[in-house]
Amino acid sequence: MMRRALLWLSEQPRIFRFVRRSRLARRFASRFVAGEEVAEGVVAARTLEAREIRVSLDLLGESVSVPAEAEAACDHYVELQDAMQAAGVEVNVSVKLTQMGFDVDEELCLANMRRILDRARAHNGFVRLDMESSEYTQRTLDFFEHRLFPEYGGHVGVVIQSALRRSAADVEHLIALQARVRLCKGAYLEPATVAFPDKRDVDAQYLALMKRLMTAGTFPGLATHDEAILQQAVRFAQAEGIPPDRFEFQMLYGVRRDLQDRLRGEGWGMRVYVPFGTQWYPYLMRRLAERPANIGFILGSILREAVSRRR
Ligand code: FDA
Repeated sequence: MMRRALLWLSEQPRIFRFVRRSRLARRFASRFVAGEEVAEGVVAARTLEAREIRVSLDLLGESVSVPAEAEAACDHYVELQDAMQAAGVEVNVSVKLTQMGFDVDEELCLANMRRILDRARAHNGFVRLDMESSEYTQRTLDFFEHRLFPEYGGHVGVVIQSALRRSAADVEHLIALQARVRLCKGAYLEPATVAFPDKRDVDAQYLALMKRLMTAGTFPGLATHDEAILQQAVRFAQAEGIPPDRFEFQMLYGVRRDLQDRLRGEGWGMRVYVPFGTQWYPYLMRRLAERPANIGFILGSILREAVSRRR
């Protein structure tokens, strides 16, 4: 119930306009979002790199409906990549195709993605296409395979969601292509026809695909905070003799920072996905929907900080 309510709230622009004016809400968001400006994203990236944690920066924003908005988002990504390079941070960004005009005109989206990928290549960087809801899965994979991968190869990668029934076949296809895959569970509410309704099936498929990618994939990103799965990944890597430079773990900014540091300290590669930008509200609501207990947790820490400042 709570998850559905939070996901519904994530799609209400009027509530976002109201929430964005609230200082408390902005502090609340700062746990999961690095700020609104490029400079704030880059500062967060530098701070993480100082902890030997790699970063992928995401300029928050989703589906756009007019070309000018897509072009503006693209300009912002180019500016971001240049700022990362100038700051000495590894150039690695995550992008949503709908933000680049995928729903407006695929040729426009291609032109925008080419600008971002040309910059990534110039900076020896990498661009990950985030995966959106299942209505985009086939289109995103086709666009990746036929329009971007032949031209940009190892500078571009995709995401596979273990929640989707189709994902085992997609993983095999991407392994054969030698494409870079990020594996996650999937953040969207999907119908049972396309996704497993039972979380145990999602987790079981995650484990199976994770092992397959660790064995045969091209530098997969294992994106999860699930401690049981992470333990299995470590055990599997040790048992199979898969060295830390063959894959990396990935987590979200502000989520399980203890685990991020622990795995990094044990010598495993760790990348944190750092979102920033003015469009933080839908992202924040999706994170709260994943773990509604965060609402109490973050409010508690804001209160504790306020009380300790008064003392
Ligand atoms: P699960 O949801 O089973 O959580 C396992 C445990 O992790 C929880 O018990 C809790 O301890 C902790 N946890 C999880 N979420 C938390 C939170 N928000 N706050 C605090 N603790 C939390 N999805 C998508 O559809 N497309 C995409 O492109 C991406 N990209 C992506 C990149 C990266 C780097 C990550 C880490 C995740 C994504 N996701 C995503 C989101 C992903 O699909 C998924 O929704 C979340 O990662 C939560 O799932 P877990 O694998 O962590 O497991």
